[in-house]
Amino acid sequence: MHANLRAVTPPATSDATTPQFSFSAGPAALPAPVRERIRDEFGDFAGTGRPVLELPFSGPEFRDVMARAERDLRTLLTVPDDHAVLFLQGGASAQFGLLPQNLGTGPAGADYVDTGYWSRKTIAEAARVTHVGVAATGADHIPDATTWRVRPDAAYLHVTTNETADGLAFHDTPVHPSHVPLVADMSSDFLTRPIDVADWGVIYASAQKNIGPAGLTVVLVRRDLLGRAHRSVPAVFDYTRQDEAGSRFNTPPTFAIYVAGLVLEWLLSHGGVAAMALANRRKSAAVYDAIDDSDGFYRCGIRADCRSHVNVCFRIADEALTDRFVASAREEGLLDLAGHSRVGGLRASLYNAVPEAAATALAAFMRGFQRRHG
Ligand SMILES: Cc1ncc(COP(=O)(O)O)c(C=O)c1O
Repeated sequence: MHANLRAVTPPATSDATTPQFSFSAGPAALPAPVRERIRDEFGDFAGTGRPVLELPFSGPEFRDVMARAERDLRTLLTVPDDHAVLFLQGGASAQFGLLPQNLGTGPAGADYVDTGYWSRKTIAEAARVTHVGVAATGADHIPDATTWRVRPDAAYLHVTTNETADGLAFHDTPVHPSHVPLVADMSSDFLTRPIDVADWGVIYASAQKNIGPAGLTVVLVRRDLLGRAHRSVPAVFDYTRQDEAGSRFNTPPTFAIYVAGLVLEWLLSHGGVAAMALANRRKSAAVYDAIDDSDGFYRCGIRADCRSHVNVCFRIADEALTDRFVASAREEGLLDLAGHSRVGGLRASLYNAVPEAAATALAAFMRGFQRRHG
């Protein structure tokens, strides 16, 4: 074996027969059948005898991969024709600053709802390029949308529909008293539940939670919002130019799009987003029940009706036990349960590809940990 390609030994877990479940917030678990397809097709894509990694991005085979990914995404979310689907790079973080530049914010700028860590990140980036108004703030719940202070001349109203680091989620489209276009960072709940895309001017999402590998960012943009970009927006990040180019203005992240296509196929063959929503609700309920039944040993600070179904964030009342919880869980094959580095505590990410057995195993572990340390 080449010296630089030595196998990396993973940190030890209990034993080789213990199933390992990843609760990582991203890059997150991929569906097992998708991992197998990648392995099987790696050197020979669809009988071409060529690795998918080596397919020219403008050749017929890769164009077909992109077309199928877009078609399946449109089917899964019933994306209307008047929304463009873009496959971009740079992560959701790039969109934080690109969004106001693409939507051509005027002197009034745009309004944002602040519901947690990721809202504040996007507000900070947007504030570098435009005026930002904060329409509402919520920490443990989503404030009633009828009370939001949305300015009629704001270019758009931005929400983060699932606060990945805090575990706070919108379960429905907010109905707010204004006509400005709604925009969402759906990085962690995209494809985890049915949505009405027509409600949204722009939806953007990093891929590495529910769509596929890091490196791909999906943007859905209503076509009447195209053509407004500031002149300073680089062409590769200009929604209009990328729409005209079929997301091939430059080399797209081909491998990430190929894997995303496999995930979308998997979703379609497993009941689509409605089935995912039900499963995510059951998985998160198993973990929330372990928290709520714990007599305060575990605590979740989010109001019950606003709790995320895909990122369960909680703490142990005795915070000194947090590291031991993470380490003991790891020994039992329950991986990546530490909370976001800036938020602390614990977090179980239960995205679409996380099996129900993982949530059940985690809930059982939590009850056992409480018995041992409570
Ligand atoms: C809601 C949300 N927005 C944005 C991001 C940033 O994504 P990226 O690292 O791909 O830029 C994340 C990452 O976890 C997220 O959860």
